[in-house]
Amino acid sequence: LQGILAPKPLAGKKLVITAGPTQEAIDPVRYISNHSSGKMGYAIAAAAQQLGCRVELVSGPCNLPSPYGVNRHSVVSAQQMLDTSLSLVNNADIFIGCAAVADYRAADQAQHKIKKSQATMTIELTRNPDVLASVAALDKRPFTVGFAAETQDIEKYALDKMQRKNLDMIAANNVALTGQGFGADQNALQVFWPQGKQTLELADKTALATKLMLLIAEHINKK
Ligand code: CTP
Ligand code: CA
Repeated sequence: LQGILAPKPLAGKKLVITAGPTQEAIDPVRYISNHSSGKMGYAIAAAAQQLGCRVELVSGPCNLPSPYGVNRHSVVSAQQMLDTSLSLVNNADIFIGCAAVADYRAADQAQHKIKKSQATMTIELTRNPDVLASVAALDKRPFTVGFAAETQDIEKYALDKMQRKNLDMIAANNVALTGQGFGADQNALQVFWPQGKQTLELADKTALATKLMLLIAEHINKK
């Protein structure tokens, strides 16, 4: 009963979160993407909802059911993820960039299926907009949290990303380790903010998501 009556730590807060991969079309039948399963982002969306947040989940293509009580907005490309995120982030208290956004898209999208010809071919790619950095650059921005997928020098790259994108917090994971990160049910995170850090040990993504949201809850009131 005490648990039911206790105020939820994030009651009344609005969270916008990106999750999953993006797909960048090359022609009508092919795309560039990555191995993101969306599990971490969906677990965070579910945990935040349980802790009292109103959750807007901006999701790239992934095979996961919408978490209970969460509003899902399905997108395909990085540009769509940016447009949808910007349309939702007004009045948000927290933004979490958990998606594995494709860094590049085809410079020109072919109208028709590309036929094979030479033994080699080249596709010109152009940089995608950065969803997280765009939100962090807004005048009236929410508490902005990024993820960093790294395979080496995790702390150095994570701190660099936090500074460059002007984030309030960054959660780094080592995607080179098997059994955690991309596609797995478990993950471990090294979380950094400008004045400190905390390690969230290897655990199921659902348990880890709750720990991350509680850590964010501690910080948003200080902002
Ligand atoms: N991100 C984003 N939009 C992009 C690229 C990344 O919103 N176009 C966000 C991711 O959701 C994540 C963070 O930025 O929260 C870091 O993503 P990551 O791929 O680790 O870093 P990049 O800045 O893309 O740098 P690099 O891939 O070169 O390491
Ligand atoms: Ca990237």
